[in-house]
Amino acid sequence: MSDPVVSPEVDLSKPAAEGMVRVTFLPEGRTVEFAFDTLPYKGHGQPMSFLDVAENYGIFLDHACGGVCACTTCHLHVKQGAEGISEPEELELDRMDTAAGIELNSRLGCQAVIEKPGTYVVEIPKWNRNYVQEGKPAHGPGS
Ligand code: FES
Repeated sequence: MSDPVVSPEVDLSKPAAEGMVRVTFLPEGRTVEFAFDTLPYKGHGQPMSFLDVAENYGIFLDHACGGVCACTTCHLHVKQGAEGISEPEELELDRMDTAAGIELNSRLGCQAVIEKPGTYVVEIPKWNRNYVQEGKPAHGPGS
């Protein structure tokens, strides 16, 4: 894997500062950081969901239904920070029943909302990565 790409202001040698949210998206290894509750809502998924964060930073996270909990293409695994994320609602749990490769840390990226400052690491599962490699437009930084 290539070196991680971070927002210019992210210093990975130090923990996230107080009041900040740091999110790393694997396997791409991109890390972004911003003050909690300051992210402009991009209209995809719940405000402050992982999909919302990804959209703000031009990170590709598939969302075939537009972030309304009607597909499972935004499925991701929460590797760190689960305690700071909203509990899944009934609709998300029902939707997840139809997803492939469910694990204990599986969530829908459009529904899992970051509720407090801290450090979060999420991984986009292999089949979504393959999907990206097979020609879906992977947005670059700032695009
Ligand atoms: S984008 Fe469709 S369920 Fe999240």
